[in-house]
Amino acid sequence: MDWGMKNRLSRIIRPDTGKALMLAVDHGYFLGPTSGLEDLENTVAPLLPYTDSLMLTRGALRNCINAKFPVPIVLRVSGGNSVLEEDLSHEDLTVDIEDAIRLNASAITMSIYIGSPHQHQTIVNLAKTVDMGEKYGIPVLAVTAVGKEMTRDERYLSLACRIAAETGAHIVKTYYCEDFDKLVKKVPIPVVIAGGKKVTEKDALELAYKAISDGAVGVDMGRNIFQAEAPVAMIQAVRSIVHHGNSVKKALDLYSSLKAKKK
Ligand code: 5RP
Repeated sequence: MDWGMKNRLSRIIRPDTGKALMLAVDHGYFLGPTSGLEDLENTVAPLLPYTDSLMLTRGALRNCINAKFPVPIVLRVSGGNSVLEEDLSHEDLTVDIEDAIRLNASAITMSIYIGSPHQHQTIVNLAKTVDMGEKYGIPVLAVTAVGKEMTRDERYLSLACRIAAETGAHIVKTYYCEDFDKLVKKVPIPVVIAGGKKVTEKDALELAYKAISDGAVGVDMGRNIFQAEAPVAMIQAVRSIVHHGNSVKKALDLYSSLKAKKK
């Protein structure tokens, strides 16, 4: 791995803990003004000091994020669909590598849809993204998007993550599932989990804890942070699990005390 690639990866996965806390706010690329992100600029600004990196689209980055804040960027480079369409797998690459470089992306990210009608197109696009990333030393985070018809079990998610790794992705993002430790052993690149739909703060912290205990390198969480009752407290609680190995109870206590202090 060349120096630039290693250096960029170390902005995503912190070398001192070997873990990654990523904040995902890229939902608008197919969901539009997602609940909690209607005012993306003001929702995300107070969360920035607590995340290791920020995953979003170039439009959100240019319009809503202060360029002077030194947060590493994981830039979404796939899209081309909307929630109004039945088949969400019909995605393509939507950002030129030169624009990703101009935006100082620390990593680029795109979705693959294994088992969906356009799986071929999305896997080939991942390969093209990896070729572009390798050319300029930019790591690629593959997201295993799951079609409505797919079961999010270890068998399916291992298949999707392993295909991402074999295609050349440097990190893969997937969903937590039962026997997640088995999935991690079958995937030779770092695995991060998505938070998924909003659940209670306790359940979201439990999810983060179980994923890290089972071998995930980190969490790339969106809705369970920015839709939490106290998002700034929530990101600090998740961070305490990812980087400091806090138990769920300790993290929940931290959440409650920060929330009470409105921090
Ligand atoms: C969509 C994505 C989203 O960024 C991510 O999955 C959302 O995170 P969360 O599920 O925690 O809201 O990659 O494909």
